[in-house]
Amino acid sequence: MRWFCERSRSQAKWLDCSHFRLRPLVVPRLARHQNKISAPRPVRSCLALAWIFIPRQRAGFGKQLQIAEYLVKVLITGADGFIGSHLTEALVKNGHDVRAFVLYNSFNSWGWLDHAPKSVRKNLDVFAGDIRDPNGVRTAMKDCDAVLHLAALIAIPYSYHSPDTYIDTNVKGTLNVLQAARDLGVKRVIHTSTSEVYGTARFVPITEEHPLQGQSPYSASKIGADQLAYSFFASFNLPVVIARPFNTYGPRQSARAVIPTIITQVANGQRQIKLGAVSPTRDFNFVKDTVAGFIAALEGDGGLGEVINFGSNFEISIGDTVKLIAEVMSKEIEIVTDEARLRPENSEVERLWADNSKAKQLLDWQPTYGGREGFKRGLTETADWFLNPANLAAYKADRYNI
Ligand SMILES: NC(=O)c1ccc[n+]([C@@H]2O[C@H](COP(=O)([O-])OP(=O)(O)OC[C@H]3O[C@@H](n4cnc5c(N)ncnc54)[C@H](O)[C@@H]3O)[C@@H](O)[C@H]2O)c1
Repeated sequence: MRWFCERSRSQAKWLDCSHFRLRPLVVPRLARHQNKISAPRPVRSCLALAWIFIPRQRAGFGKQLQIAEYLVKVLITGADGFIGSHLTEALVKNGHDVRAFVLYNSFNSWGWLDHAPKSVRKNLDVFAGDIRDPNGVRTAMKDCDAVLHLAALIAIPYSYHSPDTYIDTNVKGTLNVLQAARDLGVKRVIHTSTSEVYGTARFVPITEEHPLQGQSPYSASKIGADQLAYSFFASFNLPVVIARPFNTYGPRQSARAVIPTIITQVANGQRQIKLGAVSPTRDFNFVKDTVAGFIAALEGDGGLGEVINFGSNFEISIGDTVKLIAEVMSKEIEIVTDEARLRPENSEVERLWADNSKAKQLLDWQPTYGGREGFKRGLTETADWFLNPANLAAYKADRYNI
């Protein structure tokens, strides 16, 4: 039985590669139930016949077998967070067998995963732990074929007063993930970087060759984590891809980030919006695009040992973003500078604008919410979510969240 499953899984991926597009139907089901056949009998018979009669070399079978193997069980760290919860949902909906690593707490809260549809939650294998604990990380990773590592402390202002925790969580936590992945023979590790590691752009658009500048303890800790991830590829051949998303926004994002800060204040009825600097520019990405990037990095066979930018290639200032949000929410608003929200001068990243050609070239990834029009669409979806009183209730719009 096991023999048939293994072969069928590989075969299904192979059929996908031959443009039969059976993978979404077949691979996940077979993958989830490693020792149980859950595909209908006619599908199983077709797969068995295809396995016997179609010459394997013609479709590059050996290469696809590798990809199918690591799709079986996936661990996601930071699954309870903003991007992680969307990614977890997308992977479960695609039929992956997902173990969600959530930050342990005595409330038994799974963060945003508590708000995921029932159909997703019931298919989740949840592990509550702490990324700083090597034994917990190793236990969570047992039997997993791939790891998507998103757990991190990510707020820049919080990193100003508690940098120690950033080293423990982002650097030591990443080391724990890499060490466990190496020891357990994990077949693909997607490590999450950030565009903050570039600091203020020295040239635009920013390619992966741009120098790294740790302008905040957060950025410095991510540079350390990225370099550790690369070192495990270079030193031990650990199959690592370093995904580097630019600013991501969308439903569920913490109000420590600028777009939810603006939207929650507007949704709360405020017309004078408190903000820090409005001149810096950013390359914003709707969360669905970022999630698609992670999935491309997980399922593609390219990108090992590479850093890959996931950005929209559209640059806009914070000030113009405010105007766009006012437009999509049909409100007249005024910006008021709040000194407490300004970053120290040399720490402010003045300009971020992604060159995303490497993601296209290696993973066939492109943003679907790109350009001004795409940004407007993403902002509309985001604002609609925040305007739901049940969602808005989770935010303290009258306070500065760091
Ligand atoms: N949001 C963005 O704009 C953006 C941009 C680039 C990169 N990233 C990266 O994406 C990843 C996810 O960010 P996000 O925006 O979803 O933020 P988030 O704060 O919503 O998610 C971070 C997750 O890490 C978890 N975590 C923190 N400390 C932990 C610990 N000690 N043990 C276990 N889990 C712990 C949190 O519970 C949370 O689920 C991070 O690695 C971040 O650096 C985010």
